Amino acid sequence: MFISFFFLVLLSFSPAEAKRQCHLRPKNNLVVTSLPSLPTPTSASVTGSSTTTSALPSRTPFSYGNNTIRGVNLGGWFVLEPWITPSIFENTDDDGIVDEFTLGQRTDFNASLEMLQNHWNTWITEDDFIAIAEAGLNHVRIPLGYWSVPMTSSDTNQSTSVDPYIPGAWPYLLRALNWAAAHNIHVIIDLHGAPGSQNGYDNSGQRTSNPQWAFSSQNISRTIDTMVFIAKEIGGMIDVLELMNEPAGFRSDTWASVTRQYFQDAYDAVRGAVGGGMRMMIGDAFLGVDDWDGFLTYPSGEGVIMDKHMYQIFSNLELSRSEDDHISFACNQIPDFVSYASSNIWTIIGEWSNAKTDCALWLNGRGTGARWDGSISPGSQSFGSCQGLTGDMSTFSDEYKTFLRRYWEVQTEIGERINGWIFWTWKAENADEWSYQRGLEGGWLPQDPTERLYPNICP
Ligand SMILES: *[C@@H]1O[C@H](CO)[C@@H](O)[C@H](O)[C@H]1NC(C)=O
Ligand SMILES: *[C@@H]1O[C@H](CO)[C@@H](O)[C@H](O)[C@H]1NC(C)=O
Ligand SMILES: *[C@@H]1O[C@H](CO)[C@@H](O)[C@H](O)[C@H]1NC(C)=O
Ligand SMILES: *[C@@H]1O[C@H](CO)[C@@H](O)[C@H](O)[C@H]1NC(C)=O
Repeated sequence: MFISFFFLVLLSFSPAEAKRQCHLRPKNNLVVTSLPSLPTPTSASVTGSSTTTSALPSRTPFSYGNNTIRGVNLGGWFVLEPWITPSIFENTDDDGIVDEFTLGQRTDFNASLEMLQNHWNTWITEDDFIAIAEAGLNHVRIPLGYWSVPMTSSDTNQSTSVDPYIPGAWPYLLRALNWAAAHNIHVIIDLHGAPGSQNGYDNSGQRTSNPQWAFSSQNISRTIDTMVFIAKEIGGMIDVLELMNEPAGFRSDTWASVTRQYFQDAYDAVRGAVGGGMRMMIGDAFLGVDDWDGFLTYPSGEGVIMDKHMYQIFSNLELSRSEDDHISFACNQIPDFVSYASSNIWTIIGEWSNAKTDCALWLNGRGTGARWDGSISPGSQSFGSCQGLTGDMSTFSDEYKTFLRRYWEVQTEIGERINGWIFWTWKAENADEWSYQRGLEGGWLPQDPTERLYPNICP
């Protein structure tokens, strides 16, 4: 009944009328009043945000479907990942802390809150938004955990407890939205961590072999309420709301069908709450875009984007590809993506990287080795040494940097043929092959994202 009600609403307005129904609050300049007193004030802290008191920032309008999304993910900021900031995990002196869930469980709340506030305040600053804009990028995708969204019992009928997570990132997010607006960057907010965990990866907040999200109607309904809350509170300051990152559709048919129903219900709920102006993003849940043929296409959906992720490093089959094989594998994806995008919904490659190995320390989880050098488990196959393939770029050969550039070009090429691309990730402490920022510094990534050293890289 819920669903059919919103179908009727959607069908009874033309797109233009639906847009006029938009109830998005015009919060174009979020005043950040609740940043805690920060341990080490820097020029990038509260006072550094010129945007909270100045006139309304005016962003260049972005025509989705006509303009190409070129962006970076701000990984490891509001959802910790051991491989992106290993120092945070090392500093705990506790090998049992493998994700944000165990961090909350096994440390003193106040001490960790202070540590996290320092991280939220320093990992990404206004200078990063300036550098991202100067690199010709027009979007950031910001991963967020449900535990950072300050819902109260008036926002959901489900539990509002975030235990054992440590909440408090929200004001830092609001400040970032002001920076984005001031520097002409469009924002995708991405629910990276859902209640119960939607995939069991450490990057969902909780590393577990038994994620629960899809099995709990309470968790799902809380997730929908979270989406509605975000749309109502900050919808006017963001461009796209991604309803969930990487739900584990491959785990079972149940996971796949629950995910499908969730995307439909969350879409309807957000539309019902804030009207037609809020663009939304869904993912393929690892099932391939063709599995989503006809899903949320116009007129049953409007303003929806498909987020496809591409990595070629998480299996021996992929690692055994030569550099040229990685390039041609990427090229071979193009016809399918183009065909899906042209007959369904806008489609982007929302996560991909330059890595051709899984060598980055703790990429497979804190305390876990790499498939590439066989350190992942005793007796496993080795493809070579990790030396010179990860860590600081001073160890990278020119030949390796050339590959990083070619691999970047072929993957941006895929994105350019559809609606865009978003690189994973802007910064990493000690894995320069994954860092857009270090790629610019090291010269293997161009300051103009349309520059090509290898035009016609795909035949
Ligand atoms: C793309 O541009 C055309 C021409 O300016 C316009 O009519 C159309 O609405 C635009 N499409 C989108 C999705 O904004
Ligand atoms: C954390 O700090 C608050 C405020 O100083 C205090 O009331 C609370 O008891 C502390 N909590 C713990 C677990 O130490
Ligand atoms: C909570 O449940 C009541 C009764 O079913 C319903 O009227 C209300 O809309 C619900 N609130 C939310 C936020 O879902
Ligand atoms: C997830 O659902 C279970 C019940 O199925 C509930 O006990 C738990 O509190 C929920 N988790 C969150 C984070 O809301």
